[in-house]
Amino acid sequence: MKKEIQVFDYASEIMKAVKTGVLLTTKSDDKVNSMTISWGTLGIEWGKPIFTVFVRENRFTKEQLEKNPEFTINIPMGEFNKKILGFCGTKSGHNIDKISELNLTLESPDKISVPAIKELPLTLECKVVYKQEQDRNEICEETKKVFYPQDVDSSYHGANKDFHTAYYGEIVSAYIVE
Ligand SMILES: Cc1cc2nc3c(=O)[nH]c(=O)nc-3n(C[C@H](O)[C@H](O)[C@H](O)COP(=O)(O)O)c2cc1C
Repeated sequence: MKKEIQVFDYASEIMKAVKTGVLLTTKSDDKVNSMTISWGTLGIEWGKPIFTVFVRENRFTKEQLEKNPEFTINIPMGEFNKKILGFCGTKSGHNIDKISELNLTLESPDKISVPAIKELPLTLECKVVYKQEQDRNEICEETKKVFYPQDVDSSYHGANKDFHTAYYGEIVSAYIVE
């Protein structure tokens, strides 16, 4: 069962959750993968509701999005197993199946090919309508020092050499899995 919602009615809940961590889920070649994100923006462009995510170069999620430019944002409501965010924020789909390791319950999507997740029920289904590799020359020095100090190799989850690509996802469906 899904309860359809007006996404901007939940703007405050969504953005408070982003601050502590939500999941960004992708699907390609039949592999579903979730990674934790705590950067993201909710807004409007071209008259469409848009959720933008920022994904570093080395993430498995980046490969998935390049193959299938759709994603769901999965937001916890009330009590949930906090281990999910830690696990999905440190393990990579490059070498592990996080969905089966955590025994997460996938729910059929409404309008895209990527599923929702019952355990994090507030769901935004998004289709990428724009993407942009962020230009390192345009990032202010202070931010560059903190987020891109170039001392952790790309193969580790704490990688900081790679820059981010912004994926703008048009929110084509929003609901709570019940
Ligand atoms: C709280 C938290 C927030 C994170 N936010 C982001 C983010 O916004 N963008 C990003 O690229 N990585 C972020 N990460 C790191 C990824 O979740 C992590 O590297 C993950 O293992 C990547 O998974 P993947 O390789 O399966 O895509 C975050 C990690 C944590 C723990």
